[in-house]
Amino acid sequence: MIRPLFHATVFAGVGMITIGLLYVYKLTGTLQLNRVFTRRLNLTTPDDSRPPPASIEQLMAAREAHFNMTNIWKVQNISRKYFNPKLHIIYFSDFHVFLEKCDPQTFTLRNSHPRRPRPCNVVHTPIKHYRTCAVVGNSGILLHSSCGAEIDAHEFVIRSNLPPVSPYRTDVGSRTDLTSINVKRLVQITEALQSFNATRRKAMLARLGQTPGMVFSYSFGFVGSNAKRRMHIVDAAIKKNNLSTITAFPFRSFLDSKRLYTELVGKQWGFASTGLNTFALASTFCDTISMYGFYPMSTYQNKPVPYHYYDNMPPSDRHDFDAEYAMLRQMDEDGVIRHVVGKCNIDSENLTAHSPVGYVNGTKSKRRLLQHRTFI
Ligand SMILES: *[C@@H]1O[C@H](CO)[C@@H](O)[C@H](O)[C@H]1NC(C)=O
Ligand SMILES: *[C@@H]1O[C@H](CO)[C@@H](O)[C@H](O)[C@H]1NC(C)=O
Ligand SMILES: *[C@@H]1O[C@H](CO)[C@@H](O)[C@H](O)[C@H]1NC(C)=O
Ligand SMILES: *[C@@H]1O[C@H](CO)[C@@H](O)[C@H](O)[C@H]1NC(C)=O
Ligand SMILES: *[C@@H]1O[C@H](CO)[C@@H](O)[C@H](O)[C@H]1NC(C)=O
Ligand SMILES: *[C@@H]1O[C@H](CO)[C@@H](O)[C@H](O)[C@H]1NC(C)=O
Ligand SMILES: *[C@@H]1O[C@H](CO)[C@@H](O)[C@H](O)[C@H]1NC(C)=O
Repeated sequence: MIRPLFHATVFAGVGMITIGLLYVYKLTGTLQLNRVFTRRLNLTTPDDSRPPPASIEQLMAAREAHFNMTNIWKVQNISRKYFNPKLHIIYFSDFHVFLEKCDPQTFTLRNSHPRRPRPCNVVHTPIKHYRTCAVVGNSGILLHSSCGAEIDAHEFVIRSNLPPVSPYRTDVGSRTDLTSINVKRLVQITEALQSFNATRRKAMLARLGQTPGMVFSYSFGFVGSNAKRRMHIVDAAIKKNNLSTITAFPFRSFLDSKRLYTELVGKQWGFASTGLNTFALASTFCDTISMYGFYPMSTYQNKPVPYHYYDNMPPSDRHDFDAEYAMLRQMDEDGVIRHVVGKCNIDSENLTAHSPVGYVNGTKSKRRLLQHRTFI
C-alpha cells in the first residue's frame, strides 16, 4: 500500500489533500481510505484533447457527469428513513395549527383513531424537490476559492447559521435558499434584532433579507423549547420589515438522526455537525449535491485555513470533523456528492489546474465501487 500511495502523492499535485487524507486514515482506520488511492490518478489518460467547457452552464453540465445516480439513490433510500422536509422544515405559520390539531409527540392527528393514527397532514413544508443543490459550509477554505458563481448556478443553495455572504460573494456566492440555525446562533440573532443599537439591528435585518424567499429554519428540538419564543421574535421582525423570508420549524430535531450515520458508514458519531446533518437532509430532496466549504484541516497547500471564512473563531471541538471529512471524501469518490476543496475555476484555461479531487485534468477519475450498504 505504501508504494502506490507514494506515487499518488508525487504525481497528483494535490499533495496536501493526500497527506490530509492519510492523516484522517490514520485516525479512522475503519474507513479504509487506502482503497481510494490505489485506483485513482493514472494521469496518463489520453482524454486531454476534450475541449474544456467555456461557460458556467457547460461547466455545470460537465460537473453533473461526476454523479452516480445509482449510488445517490442508495444513500437517499437510507437518509429518507431519518430525514424528511415534511417533518424537519415546516412553515412556522403552521405552528399553531400543528399544536391545535396534532399530537406534538407523535406527529399524528389528534382526532384520528388511536389504533389507526393518521399523520399530521395539516402542516406543510416550503421545500420542494430540486435537481441541483449546493450545500455550503463555513470553512475558511472558501476564501480565494472563486467558487461564488458556481455555487449560485445551483437550483437551491443551502447554508448553515446565516453567515455573511455579500462581502465574500466571489468566493461563497450570494444566494441562500435555506439556512438552518442552531441554538447559539438563534440566540445571537434575536439579541441583535432586539438590540438598542440600530446599526446592529439593521445589519441583522439585512442579513435576514439577503435572498428573497429564503427559508430560515431551526434545526434542534423545537416543541416545548425556548426556541419557540425566539422564533416568534425573528418572525415578527421579518413581518414588521416586510421581508419575504420564510420561517420554519422542525417537528423532529436533526440530532435524532444519529443512527443514520451508523447505517451509512458503520460508525457511531457522537455529535454530527450541522453541516453533515444538512447534507443528509438535503439528500432527501435534491438529486445532486455539491458541497463547498467543508474542510476541517488547519492548512491547505501549505497555507493556513481559518475555521470560518468570516471570523477568527477557533475550531469547535464538539464534532468529529476528521471522520466527517473522510466520509465526504468517500461520498465524492462514490459519486454521491461533489465535495469541492480548493479553487473553482470557471475560466477555461484554469479549469483543470485546481480541479477538486475526483477530477484529473477535467476528466473523471476512476472510482471504487460502492459496497453493499456502506460506501467506505
Ligand atoms: C494536465 O494536462 C497538462 C497538459 O495537457 C499536463 O501538462 C499536466 O501535467 C496535466 N495535469 C495533470 C494533473 O494531469
Ligand atoms: C494509465 O493509462 C494509460 C492510458 O489509458 C495506460 O496506457 C497505462 O498503462 C496506464 N498506467 C497504469 C499504471 O495503469
Ligand atoms: C430505493 O428504494 C426504492 C423504493 O423503496 C426502490 O425501488 C429502489 O430500488 C431503491 N434504490 C436503491 C438504489 O436502493
Ligand atoms: C453598534 O453596533 C455596531 C456594529 O455592531 C458597532 O460597531 C457599534 O460600536 C455599536 N454602537 C454602540 C453605541 O454600541
Ligand atoms: C411594509 O408594508 C406596508 C404595506 O405595504 C407599509 O405600510 C409599511 O410601511 C411597510 N413597512 C416597512 C418597514 O417598510
Ligand atoms: C490560473 O490560476 C493561476 C493560479 O491561481 C493564476 O495565477 C493565473 O492567473 C490563472 N490564469 C487565468 C487565465 O486566470
Ligand atoms: C455507479 O456505481 C455503481 C456501484 O458502485 C457501479 O456499479 C456503476 O458502474 C456506477 N455507474 C456509473 C455510471 O459510473
